[in-house]
Amino acid sequence: TPVSPTGKSPYPSSVLAGPSKVPSTNPHLVTWVNEMAALCKPDRVVWVDGSEEEKKRLTDEAVAQGTLLPLNQEKLPGCYLHRSNPNDVARVEQLTFICTPTADEAGPTNNWMAPKDAYEKLGKLFDGSMRGRTMYVVPYIMGPAGSPMAKVGVELTDSIYVVLNMRIMARMGNIALKQLGESNDFNRGLHSTLDCNPERRFICHFPQDNTIWSVGSGYGGNVLLGKKCLALRVGSYLGRKEGWLAEHMLILGVESPEGEMTYVAAAFPSACGKTNFAMMIPPARFKGWKIYTVGDDIAWMKVGEDGRLRAVNPEFGYFGVAPGTNLKSNPNAMRTIARDTIYTNVALTSDGDVWWEGKDGDIPNELTDWQGRPWTRKGSTEKAAHPNSRFTAPMTNNPALSRFAEDPEGVPISAIIFGGRRANTVPLVIQAFSWTHGVFFGSALGSETTAAAAGKTGIVRRDPFAMLPFCGYNMADYFAHWLEMQAFITNPPKIFMVNWFRQDKNGNFLWPGFGENMRVLKWIVDRARLRVGGQETPFGWVPRAGDLDLSGLAISHEQVDAATEIDLDEWKAELESHGDFFKKFGERLPHVLELQREMFLARIETL
Ligand code: GTP
Ligand code: MN
Ligand code: MN
Repeated sequence: TPVSPTGKSPYPSSVLAGPSKVPSTNPHLVTWVNEMAALCKPDRVVWVDGSEEEKKRLTDEAVAQGTLLPLNQEKLPGCYLHRSNPNDVARVEQLTFICTPTADEAGPTNNWMAPKDAYEKLGKLFDGSMRGRTMYVVPYIMGPAGSPMAKVGVELTDSIYVVLNMRIMARMGNIALKQLGESNDFNRGLHSTLDCNPERRFICHFPQDNTIWSVGSGYGGNVLLGKKCLALRVGSYLGRKEGWLAEHMLILGVESPEGEMTYVAAAFPSACGKTNFAMMIPPARFKGWKIYTVGDDIAWMKVGEDGRLRAVNPEFGYFGVAPGTNLKSNPNAMRTIARDTIYTNVALTSDGDVWWEGKDGDIPNELTDWQGRPWTRKGSTEKAAHPNSRFTAPMTNNPALSRFAEDPEGVPISAIIFGGRRANTVPLVIQAFSWTHGVFFGSALGSETTAAAAGKTGIVRRDPFAMLPFCGYNMADYFAHWLEMQAFITNPPKIFMVNWFRQDKNGNFLWPGFGENMRVLKWIVDRARLRVGGQETPFGWVPRAGDLDLSGLAISHEQVDAATEIDLDEWKAELESHGDFFKKFGERLPHVLELQREMFLARIETL
């Protein structure tokens, strides 16, 4: 029986049985919870309050079920390991749908399903899906409590793992009910793990209904509905409607030795360095410089009264990639995840510690791998941790957390950076000539695929604004929205493109990356503040010789030259590939972007 999230339920609304009282009198919320409970038929409905007592109770229950494994509590206080179903370890883009009334609204880069069909199809899967189980009602806020930019969501889920993760990732429980009051303006999220069969896995977004239905998965990106689903896919749709931007961007503050603070937002595709960049510790050469994290994955940005772009991090925690995280690459992350952290799909040592490829210290001789199987250093050929293994950690654990991370007005953004994982073509850093040119940079962003999504890795694909998997409407209209924003941002940030991943002939990274990215960031900050020159190239401004501070850097100047080189033949091919991508959008693509592309191509012809 089809059930619309707002329509009348065919079931009696008497299912609010079980231990928990209903802590809300919001009629819209209570009616909807009743309807969804009638559909999923759980044995119990439990409203979560977000308290410490509740955290303990649910954690104990998760341990008793085997959903969480306690780790060595002396080494890792409050930390647990979760092993997901081996067929359920990453976002599944082919099973993610935007359900707008017409396919055109979803656009050529999204999978589309008609809302009626989606409600019907998933309604059948949800029907009775929680029999014998508990339905948790998880109210949460994305954005600082009380912020005019914050949004309330409510996720109904039958997974304790989801509840405990949502508790870390969002401001959750009674605080959200309080913020919602009697309003009907909240995101309606419904999630059921089912038997984790990929044949019955769908992540459907109904932007017009502010509704998300996710079924058949237990993996973070598919089931923590506040994150990719609400904060990005539905968020981007709402952003266009309401005149703001929901972006796959980190937000950081750079403080100079003189105490001058500059905020930067950066979009890199999944597993391309946002969390690392947001928590970076500058190298010794940059004595007195400090980086503060505002957010590591998502930025909501609106124009402030001063005409500047202001950004908040809608999240409350970090859902970060574990492999490659160590005391050298990201010491702040290591400190952040030393307590109160849920690890997913990492390997386990014999003394209850966690391990992943690229962690500090010697590789242990024996481990239990991410699937719970014995693993030996000498004998095993597979990775011990899944390449997309993750940590869920409270942002308040981060020693570099910005004191403005909870500022309800957001922080003023002076520079926007786009970056991808590119073995060639894209130089270390380049600045756009204008806002329009910067939007062109974003619209044509390319990156090699990573383990963050199911499928083959290492293939260059266009990932505009790092939003390819996360844009909740037609990407051509999204480009237009970015272009239109220009009129309102009277004091616009400067726009840059970076590439930390350029390789030499032997496949080695040319640029040391991580903390050394501070050298590039310093130039970006100086450019944004109009106090350093630049070298004009056909495609944008790059640092002049001597402008990048390379003192104390352990690599040769030849290597830096190779990392910053612009090869016209490679760029010709690049611009042609942008053209193929733009063709997908037909007449809907803003004309100015195709004109930019043609101008750069024509510029090459004159050289
Ligand atoms: P999502 O959380 O999936 O959106 O990804 P993310 O953008 O936060 O990526 P993250 O910072 O977790 O980095 C992912 C991978 O890139 C890790 O394996 C890092 O070790 C690697 N990485 C990050 N920064 C750099 C860098 O500057 N240079 C190189 N070579 N690798 C980097
Ligand atoms: Mn991400
Ligand atoms: Mn991240």
